[in-house]
Amino acid sequence: MDEHGVQRFQSLITAQTGLHIRPEEGERLAQILQTRLEQHHLSSAEEYCSLLASDTPASAREWEVLASLLTVGESYFFRDQGQCWLLQDRILPELIARRSQERSLRIWSAGCATGEEPYSLAILLDQLLPGYTGWNILILGTDINPQALEKAKRGLYGAWSFRLVDPAVQRRYFIRHKKGWELVERIRKRVIFQVGNLLRDPFPNPSSPLHDMDLILCRNVFIYLQQEAVRRIVAKLAATLREGGYLLTGHAELPPTHSLPCLQSRVFPESVIYQREEQRQGEERRERGRESRPLIRKKFLQKKPLPLSGKRDREPPAGVSPTWEEVQDLFQRGEYILAIAKGEALLHKDPRHVDTLCLLARAYANRGKYDQAIRYCQQALAIDPFALPPYYLLAHMAEEQGEIETAKQHLKKLLYLSSTCIVAYLELGALYSREGNEMRAEKMQATALELLSTLAPETVVDPYGELTAGELQQQLSVAEETRGAMAPQGGGGLHA
Ligand SMILES: C[S@@+](CC[C@H](N)C(=O)[O-])C[C@H]1O[C@@H](n2cnc3c(N)ncnc32)[C@H](O)[C@@H]1O
Repeated sequence: MDEHGVQRFQSLITAQTGLHIRPEEGERLAQILQTRLEQHHLSSAEEYCSLLASDTPASAREWEVLASLLTVGESYFFRDQGQCWLLQDRILPELIARRSQERSLRIWSAGCATGEEPYSLAILLDQLLPGYTGWNILILGTDINPQALEKAKRGLYGAWSFRLVDPAVQRRYFIRHKKGWELVERIRKRVIFQVGNLLRDPFPNPSSPLHDMDLILCRNVFIYLQQEAVRRIVAKLAATLREGGYLLTGHAELPPTHSLPCLQSRVFPESVIYQREEQRQGEERRERGRESRPLIRKKFLQKKPLPLSGKRDREPPAGVSPTWEEVQDLFQRGEYILAIAKGEALLHKDPRHVDTLCLLARAYANRGKYDQAIRYCQQALAIDPFALPPYYLLAHMAEEQGEIETAKQHLKKLLYLSSTCIVAYLELGALYSREGNEMRAEKMQATALELLSTLAPETVVDPYGELTAGELQQQLSVAEETRGAMAPQGGGGLHA
Protein backbone atom coordinates (compact mmCIF):
# COMPACT_ATOMS: atom_id res chain seq x y z
CA MET A 1 0.00 0.00 0.00
CA ASP A 2 1.58 3.31 -1.03
CA GLU A 3 2.31 5.64 1.85
CA HIS A 4 0.96 8.71 0.12
CA GLY A 5 -2.40 6.96 -0.41
CA VAL A 6 -2.64 5.98 3.27
CA GLN A 7 -1.80 9.55 4.28
CA ARG A 8 -4.52 11.01 2.07
CA PHE A 9 -6.98 8.45 3.49
CA GLN A 10 -5.99 9.51 7.00
CA SER A 11 -6.43 13.23 6.23
CA LEU A 12 -9.89 12.58 4.79
CA ILE A 13 -10.90 10.65 7.91
CA THR A 14 -9.75 13.45 10.22
CA ALA A 15 -11.48 16.11 8.13
CA GLN A 16 -14.72 14.12 8.03
CA THR A 17 -14.91 12.82 11.60
CA GLY A 18 -12.33 14.71 13.68
CA LEU A 19 -10.80 11.36 14.72
CA HIS A 20 -7.21 11.59 15.90
CA ILE A 21 -5.20 8.82 14.24
CA ARG A 22 -2.14 7.85 16.26
CA PRO A 23 1.07 6.83 14.48
CA GLU A 24 0.77 3.26 15.78
CA GLU A 25 -2.59 2.93 14.04
CA GLY A 26 -1.02 3.33 10.57
CA GLU A 27 -0.89 -0.41 9.92
CA ARG A 28 -4.50 -0.96 10.92
CA LEU A 29 -5.57 1.92 8.69
CA ALA A 30 -3.66 0.45 5.75
CA GLN A 31 -5.46 -2.88 6.33
CA ILE A 32 -8.86 -1.18 6.37
CA LEU A 33 -7.98 0.69 3.21
CA GLN A 34 -6.89 -2.53 1.47
CA THR A 35 -10.14 -4.29 2.42
CA ARG A 36 -12.24 -1.41 1.15
CA LEU A 37 -10.31 -1.27 -2.15
CA GLU A 38 -11.00 -4.98 -2.67
CA GLN A 39 -14.65 -4.52 -1.76
CA HIS A 40 -15.05 -1.81 -4.43
CA HIS A 41 -12.76 -3.55 -6.96
CA LEU A 42 -10.54 -0.49 -7.04
CA SER A 43 -6.84 -0.66 -7.76
CA SER A 44 -5.47 2.47 -6.06
CA ALA A 45 -5.91 4.43 -2.86
CA GLU A 46 -6.30 7.55 -5.00
CA GLU A 47 -9.44 6.17 -6.64
CA TYR A 48 -10.90 5.20 -3.28
CA CYS A 49 -10.12 8.62 -1.78
CA SER A 50 -11.83 10.28 -4.76
CA LEU A 51 -14.91 8.18 -4.02
CA LEU A 52 -14.84 9.30 -0.37
CA ALA A 53 -14.31 12.94 -1.27
CA SER A 54 -17.16 13.00 -3.81
CA ASP A 55 -20.49 14.45 -2.82
CA THR A 56 -22.55 11.38 -3.78
CA PRO A 57 -24.83 8.81 -2.10
CA ALA A 58 -22.08 6.21 -2.67
CA SER A 59 -19.66 8.34 -0.67
CA ALA A 60 -22.20 8.78 2.14
CA ARG A 61 -22.73 4.98 2.26
CA GLU A 62 -18.99 4.38 2.37
CA TRP A 63 -18.52 6.83 5.26
CA GLU A 64 -21.18 4.90 7.18
CA VAL A 65 -19.19 1.69 6.75
CA LEU A 66 -15.99 3.45 7.74
CA ALA A 67 -17.62 4.94 10.83
CA SER A 68 -18.27 1.45 12.15
CA LEU A 69 -14.73 0.34 11.37
CA LEU A 70 -12.94 3.35 12.83
CA THR A 71 -14.84 4.26 15.99
CA VAL A 72 -14.73 2.74 19.45
CA GLY A 73 -18.28 2.11 20.65
CA GLU A 74 -17.54 0.99 24.20
CA SER A 75 -20.39 1.92 26.56
CA TYR A 76 -22.35 0.58 29.51
CA PHE A 77 -25.30 1.55 31.68
CA PHE A 78 -24.79 4.16 34.41
CA ARG A 79 -21.21 4.64 33.27
CA ASP A 80 -19.36 6.70 35.85
CA GLN A 81 -21.33 6.31 39.05
CA GLY A 82 -20.18 9.70 40.37
CA GLN A 83 -21.57 11.54 37.37
CA CYS A 84 -24.77 9.51 37.61
CA TRP A 85 -25.24 10.58 41.24
CA LEU A 86 -24.60 14.17 40.21
CA LEU A 87 -27.24 13.97 37.49
CA GLN A 88 -29.75 12.21 39.69
CA ASP A 89 -29.26 14.25 42.86
CA ARG A 90 -28.55 17.72 41.50
CA ILE A 91 -28.62 18.45 37.82
CA LEU A 92 -31.86 16.76 36.76
CA PRO A 93 -33.81 17.95 39.85
CA GLU A 94 -32.54 21.47 39.20
CA LEU A 95 -33.59 21.34 35.55
CA ILE A 96 -36.98 19.88 36.48
CA ALA A 97 -37.55 22.69 38.98
CA ARG A 98 -36.44 25.30 36.48
CA ARG A 99 -38.64 23.96 33.68
CA SER A 100 -41.66 23.18 35.85
CA GLN A 101 -43.76 25.95 34.26
CA GLU A 102 -43.27 24.74 30.69
CA ARG A 103 -43.06 21.08 31.77
CA SER A 104 -40.66 20.36 28.97
CA LEU A 105 -37.06 19.10 28.93
CA ARG A 106 -34.67 18.57 26.05
CA ILE A 107 -31.73 16.20 26.57
CA TRP A 108 -29.10 15.04 24.07
CA SER A 109 -26.62 12.20 24.39
CA ALA A 110 -24.08 13.11 21.70
CA GLY A 111 -21.90 10.16 20.67
CA CYS A 112 -24.25 7.67 22.35
CA ALA A 113 -22.80 4.51 20.71
CA THR A 114 -25.15 1.58 21.44
CA GLY A 115 -27.58 3.60 23.55
CA GLU A 116 -26.70 2.74 27.15
CA GLU A 117 -26.14 6.42 28.01
CA PRO A 118 -29.45 7.92 26.79
CA TYR A 119 -31.35 4.93 28.20
CA SER A 120 -29.64 5.44 31.59
CA LEU A 121 -30.87 9.04 31.46
CA ALA A 122 -34.38 7.85 30.58
CA ILE A 123 -34.31 5.53 33.62
CA LEU A 124 -33.06 8.32 35.93
CA LEU A 125 -35.86 10.56 34.70
CA ASP A 126 -38.41 7.80 35.19
CA GLN A 127 -37.33 7.66 38.83
CA LEU A 128 -37.58 11.42 39.25
CA LEU A 129 -40.81 11.91 37.28
CA PRO A 130 -42.60 8.54 37.39
CA GLY A 131 -44.09 7.88 33.97
CA TYR A 132 -43.06 11.42 32.90
CA THR A 133 -46.71 12.29 33.48
CA GLY A 134 -47.62 15.75 32.17
CA TRP A 135 -44.11 16.34 30.85
CA ASN A 136 -42.90 16.64 27.32
CA ILE A 137 -39.39 15.20 27.38
CA LEU A 138 -37.03 14.78 24.46
CA ILE A 139 -34.17 12.33 24.98
CA LEU A 140 -32.12 12.19 21.82
CA GLY A 141 -29.18 9.87 21.13
CA THR A 142 -26.94 10.54 18.13
CA ASP A 143 -23.83 8.86 16.82
CA ILE A 144 -21.80 8.79 13.65
CA ASN A 145 -21.98 4.98 13.60
CA PRO A 146 -25.36 3.82 12.19
CA GLN A 147 -24.73 0.19 13.10
CA ALA A 148 -24.28 1.10 16.77
CA LEU A 149 -27.58 2.98 16.60
CA GLU A 150 -29.35 -0.06 15.13
CA LYS A 151 -28.28 -1.98 18.20
CA ALA A 152 -29.39 0.90 20.41
CA LYS A 153 -32.87 0.82 18.87
CA ARG A 154 -33.20 -2.92 19.57
CA GLY A 155 -32.55 -2.27 23.27
CA LEU A 156 -31.13 -5.75 23.85
CA TYR A 157 -27.92 -5.94 25.87
CA GLY A 158 -25.47 -8.54 27.12
CA ALA A 159 -24.57 -8.72 30.81
CA TRP A 160 -21.37 -6.80 30.08
CA SER A 161 -23.39 -3.60 29.60
CA PHE A 162 -24.60 -3.96 33.22
CA ARG A 163 -21.22 -4.18 34.87
CA LEU A 164 -22.03 -1.21 37.14
CA VAL A 165 -25.76 -1.58 37.49
CA ASP A 166 -27.52 -2.35 40.69
CA PRO A 167 -29.22 -5.75 40.13
CA ALA A 168 -32.49 -4.34 41.51
CA VAL A 169 -32.50 -1.61 38.85
CA GLN A 170 -31.61 -4.16 36.18
CA ARG A 171 -34.53 -6.38 37.18
CA ARG A 172 -36.90 -3.44 37.33
CA TYR A 173 -36.14 -2.04 33.89
CA PHE A 174 -35.01 -5.04 31.85
CA ILE A 175 -36.54 -8.35 30.85
CA ARG A 176 -34.25 -11.33 30.74
CA HIS A 177 -34.17 -13.29 27.48
CA LYS A 178 -32.00 -16.12 26.25
CA LYS A 179 -29.96 -13.65 24.22
CA GLY A 180 -29.57 -10.94 26.84
CA TRP A 181 -31.55 -8.28 28.70
CA GLU A 182 -34.20 -6.25 26.91
CA LEU A 183 -35.09 -2.75 28.07
CA VAL A 184 -38.79 -2.43 28.88
CA GLU A 185 -40.72 -0.82 26.06
CA ARG A 186 -42.02 2.15 28.05
CA ILE A 187 -38.43 3.34 28.59
CA ARG A 188 -37.20 2.30 25.15
CA LYS A 189 -39.77 4.42 23.40
CA ARG A 190 -38.72 7.49 25.42
CA VAL A 191 -35.44 7.76 23.51
CA ILE A 192 -35.10 8.64 19.85
CA PHE A 193 -31.94 7.89 17.90
CA GLN A 194 -30.56 9.55 14.84
CA VAL A 195 -27.31 9.38 12.91
CA GLY A 196 -25.22 12.51 13.31
CA ASN A 197 -21.70 13.73 12.78
CA LEU A 198 -20.70 16.14 15.53
CA LEU A 199 -17.99 17.73 13.44
CA ARG A 200 -19.73 18.18 10.11
CA ASP A 201 -23.43 18.61 10.95
CA PRO A 202 -24.63 22.17 11.39
CA PHE A 203 -26.10 22.88 14.82
CA PRO A 204 -27.82 24.53 16.57
CA ASN A 205 -30.41 23.90 13.91
CA PRO A 206 -34.01 24.94 14.61
CA SER A 207 -35.29 22.75 11.78
CA SER A 208 -33.88 19.63 13.49
CA PRO A 209 -34.13 18.51 17.14
CA LEU A 210 -30.66 19.97 17.74
CA HIS A 211 -31.49 23.21 19.52
CA ASP A 212 -32.38 24.62 22.95
CA MET A 213 -31.04 21.69 24.92
CA ASP A 214 -31.31 21.68 28.72
CA LEU A 215 -28.63 19.03 29.06
CA ILE A 216 -26.06 17.59 26.68
CA LEU A 217 -23.95 14.56 27.56
CA CYS A 218 -20.93 14.16 25.33
CA ARG A 219 -18.80 11.71 27.28
CA ASN A 220 -15.86 9.62 26.16
CA VAL A 221 -16.03 11.04 22.66
CA PHE A 222 -13.47 13.87 22.75
CA ILE A 223 -10.69 11.52 23.87
CA TYR A 224 -10.74 10.08 20.35
CA LEU A 225 -10.74 13.43 18.54
CA GLN A 226 -8.17 16.00 17.49
CA GLN A 227 -7.93 19.16 19.61
CA GLU A 228 -9.12 21.43 16.81
CA ALA A 229 -12.15 19.22 16.16
CA VAL A 230 -12.94 19.24 19.92
CA ARG A 231 -12.75 23.04 19.98
CA ARG A 232 -15.18 23.37 17.09
CA ILE A 233 -17.62 20.80 18.45
CA VAL A 234 -17.65 22.35 21.96
CA ALA A 235 -18.44 25.77 20.48
CA LYS A 236 -21.41 24.27 18.60
CA LEU A 237 -22.60 22.28 21.63
CA ALA A 238 -22.44 25.38 23.83
CA ALA A 239 -24.54 27.29 21.29
CA THR A 240 -27.06 24.42 21.24
CA LEU A 241 -27.71 24.72 25.00
CA ARG A 242 -30.39 26.95 26.45
CA GLU A 243 -29.11 29.63 28.78
CA GLY A 244 -28.39 27.86 32.07
CA GLY A 245 -28.28 24.47 30.30
CA TYR A 246 -25.53 21.94 31.09
CA LEU A 247 -22.83 20.13 29.16
CA LEU A 248 -21.33 17.03 30.79
CA THR A 249 -18.20 15.48 29.30
CA GLY A 250 -15.93 12.66 30.50
CA HIS A 251 -13.42 13.62 33.21
CA ALA A 252 -10.61 15.88 32.03
CA GLU A 253 -11.82 15.74 28.41
CA LEU A 254 -11.94 19.54 28.10
CA PRO A 255 -9.38 22.27 28.74
CA PRO A 256 -10.00 24.85 31.54
CA THR A 257 -13.08 26.99 31.03
CA HIS A 258 -11.39 30.25 30.09
CA SER A 259 -11.01 28.79 26.62
CA LEU A 260 -14.61 27.53 26.47
CA PRO A 261 -17.16 29.75 24.78
CA CYS A 262 -19.90 31.07 27.12
CA LEU A 263 -19.52 28.10 29.48
CA GLN A 264 -18.94 28.30 33.20
CA SER A 265 -17.62 25.30 35.06
CA ARG A 266 -19.39 24.17 38.21
CA VAL A 267 -17.27 21.92 40.35
CA PHE A 268 -18.88 19.14 42.36
CA PRO A 269 -17.09 16.37 44.26
CA GLU A 270 -18.29 13.88 41.65
CA SER A 271 -17.40 15.83 38.52
CA VAL A 272 -17.04 19.16 36.82
CA ILE A 273 -20.04 20.15 34.70
CA TYR A 274 -20.24 23.10 32.30
CA GLN A 275 -23.15 25.51 32.40
CA ARG A 276 -24.09 27.85 29.59
CA GLU A 277 -23.98 31.32 31.07
CA GLU A 278 -26.99 33.57 30.83
CA GLN A 279 -26.56 36.38 28.31
CA ARG A 280 -26.55 39.02 31.04
CA GLN A 281 -23.74 37.25 32.84
CA GLY A 282 -21.65 37.03 29.70
CA GLU A 283 -22.09 40.73 29.10
CA GLU A 284 -21.16 41.53 32.71
CA ARG A 285 -18.13 39.32 32.46
CA ARG A 286 -16.98 40.89 29.25
CA GLU A 287 -17.51 44.36 30.77
CA ARG A 288 -15.48 43.51 33.80
CA GLY A 289 -12.91 41.90 31.55
CA ARG A 290 -12.43 39.01 33.93
CA GLU A 291 -14.03 35.72 34.85
CA SER A 292 -17.58 36.12 36.17
CA ARG A 293 -18.35 34.87 39.66
CA PRO A 294 -19.64 31.34 39.97
CA LEU A 295 -23.38 31.02 39.53
CA ILE A 296 -25.44 31.05 42.69
CA ARG A 297 -26.67 27.53 43.13
CA LYS A 298 -30.29 27.09 42.20
CA LYS A 299 -32.61 25.69 44.82
CA PHE A 300 -33.02 22.01 44.22
CA LEU A 301 -36.31 20.18 44.42
CA GLN A 302 -37.36 19.62 47.99
CA LYS A 303 -38.58 16.13 47.26
CA LYS A 304 -35.73 13.63 47.41
CA PRO A 305 -35.35 11.70 44.16
CA LEU A 306 -35.76 7.95 44.20
CA PRO A 307 -32.28 6.52 44.48
CA LEU A 308 -30.96 4.10 41.85
CA SER A 309 -31.16 1.24 44.30
CA GLY A 310 -34.48 2.49 45.63
CA LYS A 311 -33.02 2.48 49.15
CA ARG A 312 -29.91 4.58 49.12
CA ASP A 313 -30.98 7.33 51.46
CA ARG A 314 -32.15 5.35 54.46
CA GLU A 315 -30.34 6.49 57.62
CA PRO A 316 -28.14 3.92 59.31
CA PRO A 317 -29.63 2.71 62.61
CA ALA A 318 -27.56 3.09 65.76
CA GLY A 319 -26.63 0.35 68.24
CA VAL A 320 -26.19 -3.43 67.69
CA SER A 321 -22.84 -4.34 66.21
CA PRO A 322 -23.07 -5.64 62.67
CA THR A 323 -21.86 -8.96 61.29
CA TRP A 324 -19.75 -9.43 58.18
CA GLU A 325 -22.65 -11.32 56.48
CA GLU A 326 -24.99 -8.43 57.20
CA VAL A 327 -22.60 -5.91 55.64
CA GLN A 328 -22.10 -8.13 52.62
CA ASP A 329 -25.84 -8.52 52.18
CA LEU A 330 -26.41 -4.75 52.35
CA PHE A 331 -23.74 -4.23 49.73
CA GLN A 332 -25.24 -6.88 47.43
CA ARG A 333 -28.62 -5.17 47.68
CA GLY A 334 -27.09 -1.82 46.69
CA GLU A 335 -27.66 -0.21 50.10
CA TYR A 336 -24.27 1.43 50.04
CA ILE A 337 -24.79 4.04 52.77
CA LEU A 338 -25.85 1.37 55.23
CA ALA A 339 -23.12 -0.99 54.06
CA ILE A 340 -20.56 1.76 54.64
CA ALA A 341 -21.91 2.68 58.09
CA LYS A 342 -22.02 -0.92 59.26
CA GLY A 343 -18.80 -1.88 57.47
CA GLU A 344 -16.96 0.94 59.22
CA ALA A 345 -18.38 -0.17 62.58
CA LEU A 346 -17.14 -3.67 61.81
CA LEU A 347 -13.75 -2.31 60.88
CA HIS A 348 -13.59 -0.50 64.19
CA LYS A 349 -13.61 -3.90 65.89
CA ASP A 350 -11.20 -5.51 63.43
CA PRO A 351 -9.18 -2.86 61.53
CA ARG A 352 -7.18 -5.51 59.64
CA HIS A 353 -10.14 -7.30 58.08
CA VAL A 354 -9.13 -7.14 54.41
CA ASP A 355 -12.52 -8.27 53.07
CA THR A 356 -14.25 -5.43 54.93
CA LEU A 357 -11.71 -2.92 53.63
CA CYS A 358 -12.28 -4.14 50.07
CA LEU A 359 -16.03 -4.05 50.42
CA LEU A 360 -15.92 -0.52 51.86
CA ALA A 361 -13.73 0.54 48.94
CA ARG A 362 -16.29 -0.84 46.50
CA ALA A 363 -19.22 0.77 48.31
CA TYR A 364 -17.50 4.17 48.22
CA ALA A 365 -16.55 3.71 44.57
CA ASN A 366 -20.15 2.85 43.73
CA ARG A 367 -21.17 6.15 45.30
CA GLY A 368 -18.60 7.98 43.16
CA LYS A 369 -16.42 8.75 46.22
CA TYR A 370 -13.15 7.70 44.68
CA ASP A 371 -10.83 9.31 47.25
CA GLN A 372 -12.22 7.21 50.10
CA ALA A 373 -12.34 4.15 47.86
CA ILE A 374 -8.68 4.53 46.94
CA ARG A 375 -7.75 4.99 50.61
CA TYR A 376 -9.47 1.73 51.56
CA CYS A 377 -7.80 -0.08 48.64
CA GLN A 378 -4.42 1.15 49.86
CA GLN A 379 -5.17 0.05 53.42
CA ALA A 380 -6.18 -3.39 52.18
CA LEU A 381 -3.01 -3.71 50.13
CA ALA A 382 -0.85 -2.55 53.05
CA ILE A 383 -2.19 -5.51 55.05
CA ASP A 384 -2.30 -8.03 52.20
CA PRO A 385 -0.15 -7.01 49.20
CA PHE A 386 -1.47 -10.06 47.31
CA ALA A 387 -5.15 -9.14 47.58
CA LEU A 388 -6.71 -9.03 44.10
CA PRO A 389 -9.95 -7.01 44.54
CA PRO A 390 -8.19 -3.69 45.34
CA TYR A 391 -6.22 -3.83 42.07
CA TYR A 392 -9.34 -4.68 40.12
CA LEU A 393 -11.24 -1.79 41.69
CA LEU A 394 -8.34 0.64 41.27
CA ALA A 395 -8.25 -0.29 37.58
CA HIS A 396 -11.98 0.41 37.19
CA MET A 397 -11.76 3.75 38.97
CA ALA A 398 -8.78 4.80 36.86
CA GLU A 399 -10.65 3.84 33.68
CA GLU A 400 -13.72 5.78 34.78
CA GLN A 401 -11.56 8.84 35.27
CA GLY A 402 -9.94 8.48 31.85
CA GLU A 403 -6.57 7.42 33.32
CA ILE A 404 -6.03 4.58 30.91
CA GLU A 405 -2.31 4.08 31.58
CA THR A 406 -2.96 3.73 35.32
CA ALA A 407 -5.86 1.36 34.66
CA LYS A 408 -3.57 -0.79 32.52
CA GLN A 409 -0.89 -0.84 35.22
CA HIS A 410 -3.37 -2.06 37.84
CA LEU A 411 -4.64 -4.79 35.55
CA LYS A 412 -1.08 -5.87 34.79
CA LYS A 413 -0.36 -6.07 38.53
CA LEU A 414 -3.46 -8.19 38.89
CA LEU A 415 -2.18 -10.56 36.21
CA TYR A 416 1.24 -10.63 37.84
CA LEU A 417 -0.42 -11.83 41.04
CA SER A 418 -2.86 -14.16 39.32
CA SER A 419 -1.88 -15.12 35.79
CA THR A 420 -5.24 -16.86 35.27
CA CYS A 421 -7.43 -13.85 36.08
CA ILE A 422 -9.57 -14.04 32.94
CA VAL A 423 -11.45 -10.78 33.39
CA ALA A 424 -8.16 -8.88 33.70
CA TYR A 425 -7.10 -10.17 30.26
CA LEU A 426 -10.46 -9.16 28.83
CA GLU A 427 -10.42 -5.69 30.34
CA LEU A 428 -6.82 -5.09 29.38
CA GLY A 429 -7.79 -6.18 25.86
CA ALA A 430 -10.66 -3.66 25.83
CA LEU A 431 -8.26 -0.88 26.89
CA TYR A 432 -5.75 -1.80 24.18
CA SER A 433 -8.55 -1.83 21.65
CA ARG A 434 -9.71 1.57 22.86
CA GLU A 435 -6.19 2.81 22.10
CA GLY A 436 -6.33 1.28 18.63
CA ASN A 437 -3.81 -1.43 19.49
CA GLU A 438 -5.83 -4.26 17.98
CA MET A 439 -2.96 -6.73 17.89
CA ARG A 440 -2.46 -6.67 21.65
CA ALA A 441 -6.21 -6.51 22.20
CA GLU A 442 -6.71 -9.69 20.21
CA LYS A 443 -3.86 -11.41 22.02
CA MET A 444 -5.41 -10.62 25.41
CA GLN A 445 -8.81 -11.83 24.30
CA ALA A 446 -7.37 -15.03 22.83
CA THR A 447 -5.58 -15.80 26.12
CA ALA A 448 -8.80 -15.18 28.05
CA LEU A 449 -10.81 -17.45 25.78
CA GLU A 450 -8.21 -20.18 25.96
CA LEU A 451 -8.23 -20.04 29.77
CA LEU A 452 -12.00 -19.95 29.83
CA SER A 453 -12.26 -23.09 27.71
CA THR A 454 -10.39 -25.05 30.38
CA LEU A 455 -12.68 -24.14 33.28
CA ALA A 456 -15.78 -25.80 34.68
CA PRO A 457 -18.85 -23.52 34.30
CA GLU A 458 -19.16 -22.94 38.06
CA THR A 459 -15.56 -21.73 38.49
CA VAL A 460 -15.36 -18.15 39.73
CA VAL A 461 -13.45 -15.96 37.26
CA ASP A 462 -13.37 -12.45 38.74
CA PRO A 463 -11.59 -11.01 41.80
CA TYR A 464 -14.88 -10.04 43.47
CA GLY A 465 -16.05 -13.66 43.35
CA GLU A 466 -19.27 -12.71 41.57
CA LEU A 467 -18.93 -14.08 38.05
CA THR A 468 -18.66 -17.72 37.01
CA ALA A 469 -17.00 -19.13 33.89
CA GLY A 470 -20.43 -20.20 32.59
CA GLU A 471 -21.88 -16.71 33.00
CA LEU A 472 -18.87 -15.11 31.36
CA GLN A 473 -19.06 -17.57 28.48
CA GLN A 474 -22.68 -16.56 27.96
CA GLN A 475 -21.83 -12.84 28.04
CA LEU A 476 -19.09 -13.31 25.51
CA SER A 477 -21.34 -15.26 23.14
CA VAL A 478 -23.90 -12.44 23.26
CA ALA A 479 -21.15 -9.87 22.58
CA GLU A 480 -19.89 -12.03 19.71
CA GLU A 481 -23.37 -12.40 18.20
CA THR A 482 -23.90 -8.67 18.42
CA ARG A 483 -20.58 -8.04 16.74
CA GLY A 484 -21.51 -10.52 14.01
CA ALA A 485 -24.81 -8.73 13.49
CA MET A 486 -22.99 -5.42 13.28
CA ALA A 487 -20.20 -6.61 10.97
CA PRO A 488 -17.95 -5.30 9.62
CA GLN A 489 -16.35 -4.40 12.95
CA GLY A 490 -12.66 -3.98 13.55
CA GLY A 491 -10.57 -6.08 15.88
CA GLY A 492 -11.22 -7.84 19.12
CA GLY A 493 -11.87 -6.32 22.50
CA LEU A 494 -15.17 -6.21 24.27
CA HIS A 495 -16.93 -3.34 22.66
CA ALA A 496 -20.54 -3.54 23.58
C1 LIG B 1 -16.67 5.35 23.54
S1 LIG B 1 -18.18 5.77 22.79
C2 LIG B 1 -18.96 6.71 24.05
C3 LIG B 1 -20.35 6.23 24.35
C4 LIG B 1 -21.03 6.94 25.51
N1 LIG B 1 -21.07 8.36 25.33
C5 LIG B 1 -20.36 6.59 26.81
O1 LIG B 1 -19.68 7.41 27.40
O2 LIG B 1 -20.52 5.45 27.26
C6 LIG B 1 -17.68 7.04 21.63
C7 LIG B 1 -18.69 7.25 20.52
O3 LIG B 1 -18.39 8.49 19.84
C8 LIG B 1 -18.78 8.33 18.49
N2 LIG B 1 -18.14 9.36 17.66
C9 LIG B 1 -16.83 9.49 17.36
N3 LIG B 1 -16.65 10.53 16.52
C10 LIG B 1 -17.87 11.07 16.29
C11 LIG B 1 -18.33 12.17 15.52
N4 LIG B 1 -17.51 12.94 14.79
N5 LIG B 1 -19.66 12.43 15.50
C12 LIG B 1 -20.52 11.66 16.23
N6 LIG B 1 -20.14 10.61 16.98
C13 LIG B 1 -18.82 10.32 17.01
C14 LIG B 1 -18.33 6.91 18.17
O4 LIG B 1 -19.01 6.36 17.06
C15 LIG B 1 -18.63 6.16 19.46
O5 LIG B 1 -19.86 5.48 19.39
